[in-house]
Amino acid sequence: MAADHLPIVETRTLVQQWASEDDCDALARKLASSDALRDAFIALHGDLGAGKTTFVRHLLRALGIASRIKSPTYAVVEPHEAPGGLAIFHFDFYRFSDPHEWDDAGFRDIFAGTGLKLAEWPENAAGRIPVADLAIKIEAMNDDTRTVTLHANTVRGSRLLDAAA
Ligand SMILES: Nc1ncnc2c1ncn2[C@@H]1O[C@H](COP(=O)(O)OP(=O)(O)OP(=O)(O)O)[C@@H](O)[C@H]1O
Ligand SMILES: [Mg+2]
Repeated sequence: MAADHLPIVETRTLVQQWASEDDCDALARKLASSDALRDAFIALHGDLGAGKTTFVRHLLRALGIASRIKSPTYAVVEPHEAPGGLAIFHFDFYRFSDPHEWDDAGFRDIFAGTGLKLAEWPENAAGRIPVADLAIKIEAMNDDTRTVTLHANTVRGSRLLDAAA
């Protein structure tokens, strides 16, 4: 392959084993400490009850959000603001089915704009939702253990992967 055809960023993968929710919290804290989190889009994959919302809660706490953190299931998106002004948009596309809602509800603008975007069930918005900087797949092994695969798709995602390692 000619040098000028080399990809700007190779996709990279990191696999973690979580023994308990403490390890979920540890990843959240590492990502929260990275400058690359600002304006990032993180997609969260995994079955019902895998731990996607739990991870978001740990991440929001690590970013200094102390108030009760609602799940966005009924609203599709729950906005938050961290101390210091970082805007955070927590999406849950589990019940998302109306394609018009993508534009009508302003989701296109949110994903094109600044701030941290987190999305559960991104597969339900396939074709509209952009490629995530970082995709995190959580698989439940037993009650507390999880196999977690982090996949970086962009330079920003690669920086987040470095922070997670
Ligand atoms: N290591 C772990 N990491 C994350 N969550 C864990 C872990 N061990 C146990 N849990 C528990 O698993 C549950 C995960 O539920 P959660 O609502 O986060 O799942 P979800 O992936 O968001 O599901 P849904 O698709 O329904 O939104 C929580 O009760 C959490 O306390
Ligand atoms: Mg959830």
